[in-house]
Amino acid sequence: MSFTSNMRLRLVGLRPVIVLRPRQCIGCRSISASSIRRVNRAVVYTENGDPSQVLSALTYDDLPPPPRDTLNIKFLLAPINPADINVIQGVYPAKPSLTSLGEGRSVFVGGNEGLAEVVHVGDGVSGLSSGDWVVMTKPQAGTWSSSSNVRSEDVLKLPRADALTEVHGATMTVNPPTAYNMLHDFAKLKKNDWVVQNGANSAVGQSVIQIAAARGLKTLNLVRSRPDLEDLTRKLKALGGTEVLTYDDLADRALIKTIMNDWTGGKGIRLGLNCVSGKDTSAMARLFGSNAYLVSYGAMSKEPLSLPTSLFIFKNLTSVGFWQSRWYKTHTRQDKENLMETLVDLVAQGKLKEPEHEILSISAHDSDEVAGGKIRDIFTKMSAGQYGKKVLLKFESAK
Ligand SMILES: NC(=O)c1ccc[n+]([C@@H]2O[C@H](COP(=O)([O-])OP(=O)(O)OC[C@H]3O[C@@H](n4cnc5c(N)ncnc54)[C@H](OP(=O)(O)O)[C@@H]3O)[C@@H](O)[C@H]2O)c1
Repeated sequence: MSFTSNMRLRLVGLRPVIVLRPRQCIGCRSISASSIRRVNRAVVYTENGDPSQVLSALTYDDLPPPPRDTLNIKFLLAPINPADINVIQGVYPAKPSLTSLGEGRSVFVGGNEGLAEVVHVGDGVSGLSSGDWVVMTKPQAGTWSSSSNVRSEDVLKLPRADALTEVHGATMTVNPPTAYNMLHDFAKLKKNDWVVQNGANSAVGQSVIQIAAARGLKTLNLVRSRPDLEDLTRKLKALGGTEVLTYDDLADRALIKTIMNDWTGGKGIRLGLNCVSGKDTSAMARLFGSNAYLVSYGAMSKEPLSLPTSLFIFKNLTSVGFWQSRWYKTHTRQDKENLMETLVDLVAQGKLKEPEHEILSISAHDSDEVAGGKIRDIFTKMSAGQYGKKVLLKFESAK
């Protein structure tokens, strides 16, 4: 549905609230006689810096009806991913564009990934209708917002399955595809072969464990030591992880021998996935057999990656990088649709669960000041480390 310009603005507390009357709504399937208070809100920033300092919440008017080849979408849920922090800091290669919002302020809207529902379809759009779930293929689409007008070519329709939740949908375009592609595009692995990964409790790591298990691969999962290690080990094994160790365990030479000789039958491991780098990844590389691939996709330790030269000479190690954004740029729409179908199919079979998460709901009753405070607060907590859960933002837009 689209809302026209003859809507009234009222001030409720400090917050302008748009009051829509039923006759002003075009194309509504049904609407109650009482008025609807909508609050469109976005998490925005005007300069790069620490997210816990530079982010604020901004209320904005309803958007005009979508022009030709464009959709009006309502975001249902959007995650905060580590790369979003780097984007806000200004140290990530993908940059958002400035957007004019809320009384014409030029702002950057945060958020790259998210699940949205189609509200209104502009002329010339085919294959999408209101109520469909869509995910973004355009990077830095400003998903930390209530609604947006987006080009139909910048979204993919998400296949629906009973088991597919909003959390699955909101986290479907970055981490599971990264895990899937890294497991398929490099080493050619057979059933019972081993994969070793660090940051194994991350959302990508949880996807790696499950997608590998669905393929019959064994995973050696490395995590940082922590007081609740047993609990974490139990969770990762419940997802299908074969073994869970800490980086500190890799100092144990006898254990390395056991892994190389007993666990992998003398072959060593042929695929390593790295989102940490630093010395712990150098230690992980000792587990590689001949012709292994080390695929690096993150650097959470902020340390460089250093590998023994001997691994390249004597074991023919290949060390490469993977970026899901590049995959999206270099693959066809059909490839992207096929990948989404494969992942939703895994969800439908119960083989790909939601990541460990918590939802930060921003109430329509919160002022922008209160909403901004809640958002900055979560970034402060996350930056303290070992937060342990993917945080997703939900804007309650109507009351
Ligand atoms: N290249 C790509 O296309 C691509 C795609 C998706 C994600 N990524 C990258 O993959 C990584 C994980 O993303 P995610 O969304 O899965 O993250 P996430 O769920 O937020 O998890 C973050 C992970 O990083 C670990 N970590 C944080 N600081 C660390 C440090 N100083 N040393 C070692 N480990 C540390 C955390 O371990 P603790 O629990 O011990 O804190 C946790 O396992 C990020 O670097 C992200 O940018 C890359």
